[in-house]
Amino acid sequence: CRVVVLISGNGSNLQALLDAQANSHYRIVAVISNRPEAFGLQRAAAAGVAAQVVDHKSFDSRESFDAALIQLIDQCKPDLLVLAGFMRILSSGFVQHYQGRLLNIHPSLLPAYKGTQTHKRVLEAGERQHGVSVHFVTEELDGGPVVRQAVIQIGAEDSVESLQQRVAVEEHRIYPQVVAWFAAGRLRLTAQGPELDGEIL
Ligand code: GRF
Repeated sequence: CRVVVLISGNGSNLQALLDAQANSHYRIVAVISNRPEAFGLQRAAAAGVAAQVVDHKSFDSRESFDAALIQLIDQCKPDLLVLAGFMRILSSGFVQHYQGRLLNIHPSLLPAYKGTQTHKRVLEAGERQHGVSVHFVTEELDGGPVVRQAVIQIGAEDSVESLQQRVAVEEHRIYPQVVAWFAAGRLRLTAQGPELDGEIL
């Protein structure tokens, strides 16, 4: 299974996916960042994976940026496109083009806390539980069908930083698992929702 990963920053999820691929049926064939300074580009290079930049600042519209991105991605002939801290909203044309082969990871228990600054908002709301969700991407931002979640309990001592770190541990555990499921043909998106091992989730 050929995987292309899109990033914007640190790339710790990319690292987890790179580290896990030796034991799975997927190969990361390219990493693309919309930010030239993304540290994840160095992680890709260190792993011997082609790393490229499509800088959104050099395009005058979301559509033209997305078109350039599609062209570059499709040259890599991916079976699966993985968003790993990719901080651009994708156009509906882009999302439709990769329907059923586009995954994202979001640091909350979706459908709760879509959008940014999830750890801060969860703390402010006094929640007792938090976590992370891996989902297929649809046109609704952070709204696509959830494939897998990991839950953490929030303690009195937790801060934005501790939640960020604790959620990251779970992210790095579950994202490679979901990608491996897809690569093994165990996971697919059907009209009824995501299907794992023949059962609708
Ligand atoms: C993660 O929290 C992920 O859930 C969110 O962006 C962050 C990316 O972190 N979508 P990294 O770049 O993988 O370290």
